[in-house]
Amino acid sequence: MLGDHAVNPPVVLAPMAGITNVAFRRLCREQGGGVYVCEMITTRALVERIPKTLKMIAFAEDEGFRSLQLYGVDPDVTAAAVRMVGEDNLADHIDLNFGCPVPKVTRRGGGSALPWRRRLFGRIVTQAVEAAKPFGIPVTIKMRKGIDDDHLTYVEAGLAAQDAGVAAVALHARTAEQRYSGKADWDAIATLKQALDVPVLGNGDIWEGSDALRMVEHTGCDGVVVGRGCLGRPWLFADLEAAFTQGTGYRPVLPALGEVAKIIARHAQLLVEALEDERHGCADFRKHVAWYLKGFPVGGDLRRSLAMISSLAELDDLLAKLDPAVPFPAEALGQPRGRVNAPGKVSLPHGWLDSRDDDSVPEGAETDESGG
Ligand SMILES: Cc1cc2nc3c(=O)[nH]c(=O)nc-3n(C[C@H](O)[C@H](O)[C@H](O)COP(=O)(O)O)c2cc1C
Repeated sequence: MLGDHAVNPPVVLAPMAGITNVAFRRLCREQGGGVYVCEMITTRALVERIPKTLKMIAFAEDEGFRSLQLYGVDPDVTAAAVRMVGEDNLADHIDLNFGCPVPKVTRRGGGSALPWRRRLFGRIVTQAVEAAKPFGIPVTIKMRKGIDDDHLTYVEAGLAAQDAGVAAVALHARTAEQRYSGKADWDAIATLKQALDVPVLGNGDIWEGSDALRMVEHTGCDGVVVGRGCLGRPWLFADLEAAFTQGTGYRPVLPALGEVAKIIARHAQLLVEALEDERHGCADFRKHVAWYLKGFPVGGDLRRSLAMISSLAELDDLLAKLDPAVPFPAEALGQPRGRVNAPGKVSLPHGWLDSRDDDSVPEGAETDESGG
């Protein structure tokens, strides 16, 4: 449950900047049930009504439960942004991002650096929940384990968020230092689940429906948040729904190349519609090509051409060259995709680690830079 909204199957599409726009969410929603979170929106840009930001808050008419992620570092600005979401009826759910590991953000004290400043974190979450209350909008948070193994914050932050009245807490079970490297620590999700009464959503390294079942089994979490696993694989949501309805032993969803080609064409078409421009839509689509074709026996020239398309007609011609009968490559199953970068020391503002109870608002921590 998120507020009054039953989430069935208990699956959330993770917010991913540059990916989870209205087109991609629709493509995923056509595959299965769940909550599909919009790209992250910065609170300051929202309250200042920056046109580019307002445009990013686009939901399809049939998007029943409009889920929006906000990123903020200032309790007052965050509350103002939440009020605006309520007053302008922009969304039905607000998630707060405390997981961004991008150096440009943590260096200023934002994203995954912020929960360390426990009083500031508490103020942001409390004010957001209070501001959302009159509109009946459930607020959730999404965070990492902490800055690094010596500076873990997730249990304390989860408890504080629960006290503030959040509807659920999502944990990407890596530290900021890990970025996207190594394995997510599902034991940490179990620890958080034991510590909290509100629903806990587990996040990290779900590549197949079977991984989601394993995570629930291992951690007792109430639902799963899925990010990179669905890059170039929107049918993962059909796979997840099958897994949750049929249990272990379910039949995995493994489209042959012909079906993948149809989904590719639909994705590009939806992007063109969303961006209201064929060239922009096709340009935005290009980054998805390698993910769709991962593991399929498709030659380099064709891959390169597909990654350079500038019209839907060109895309159709190229897709016609694919052999529709090629089965889904087993070797691509269970494999990481998208970001898998190396760990890196977390950039923080001077003296950050020595001042946990300082609740002054960090300056310049709201940039256009984003990520989780
Ligand atoms: C391209 C990309 C963009 C992301 N953008 C965001 C974001 O805006 N907000 C956020 O909370 N997390 C963001 N994340 C993190 C994901 O939501 C998720 O927590 C992370 O990828 C781990 O889950 P996974 O192992 O299922 O991918 C992003 C991840 C990727 C790969």
